[in-house]
Amino acid sequence: MDTIDWKNLSFGYLKTDFNVRSYFKDGQWSKPQETTSESIDIHMAATCLHYGQEAFEGLKAFRGKDGKIRIFRLEENALRMQSSCRGILMQELPIEIFEETVLKAVKLNEKYVPPYESGAALYIRPLLIGTSPQVGVKASKEYLFLVFVTPVGPYFKEGFKPTPLVILRSFDRAAPQGTGTYKIGGNYAASLVAGEKAHQMGYSAVLYLDPKEKKYIDEGGPANFFAIKGNTYITPASSSILPSITNKSLIQLAEDMGMTIERRPVLEEELSTFDEAGICGTAAVISPVERIDDIEENKSYKFTKDGIAGPVSTKLYNKLRAIQYGDEPDTHNWVTIVE
Ligand code: PLP
Ligand code: COI
Repeated sequence: MDTIDWKNLSFGYLKTDFNVRSYFKDGQWSKPQETTSESIDIHMAATCLHYGQEAFEGLKAFRGKDGKIRIFRLEENALRMQSSCRGILMQELPIEIFEETVLKAVKLNEKYVPPYESGAALYIRPLLIGTSPQVGVKASKEYLFLVFVTPVGPYFKEGFKPTPLVILRSFDRAAPQGTGTYKIGGNYAASLVAGEKAHQMGYSAVLYLDPKEKKYIDEGGPANFFAIKGNTYITPASSSILPSITNKSLIQLAEDMGMTIERRPVLEEELSTFDEAGICGTAAVISPVERIDDIEENKSYKFTKDGIAGPVSTKLYNKLRAIQYGDEPDTHNWVTIVE
């Protein structure tokens, strides 16, 4: 603990003291209980292992200048986990259980929330799995909800510095009317090969096209896509992307700044008309895009000349971070202070 180098944290797992668990059994969720164990003991035929009944969330807690700990958009993450439950026929987790478990996990591991000056955060990972044995393809009757936390630095090592993305036309992360809108493990398993290929070629992530027509921009591997054109914030509408809570927040901030919002299908050709581009998410925050290469089509779209993020992305990034760390007022009620 004493040896954590807060300023140089990467996005990875560091052991903390406790995780918190609630079990669904006989029609009821148990009171969230802490444990020091990093393991779970489940039946070998559990539905999460065989049929992918697994959903997760990702949110962050920040320590302010005032020493207070702020959790960003707790309720929105609880609501999205409920949507994931409906998407893969899991028992819907009550918002109160989600919130109570997260709050307890953060409070118990308070000393792992990085100091304000470090610019790091505590990543919160809620996880819900089907635990009953089923050999036929059926939903589980019992569930485990678990929350662990870990201190993290930037998801992309470059932080707020533009990096390149690649379009790999022979890969999709989700089907047109499949599970892309849910935060479930299967979507990430489906993205591993393409992600690894992109990294080997020197790109920070894959930029997926819509899986039906391969004409429109969908999203980045771990984050939504947005672009700036003049005074307009443009972000794809698609039935195969995750509804990002960071993107939703940036849309609100852009609106507050007097920008026009366009949430609509975005043609790949339009990339050449944008002034700035970025991908956004809890882990990625805003990761500005340097260029996008569509390698099979031999096309490349460039967004920076000098290797620095554009002015609108920078303004949005600073505003979002200021609210998260409590430097600016939380006018939209996005923050839960841990008492
Ligand atoms: N898209 C995908 C595929 C993601 O994994 C994430 C990460 O959570 C996001 C978008 C961004 O969502 P959020 O801003 O809610 O973290
Ligand atoms: C997040 O941004 O919270 C994510 O879940 C992205 C990735 C780590 C899966």
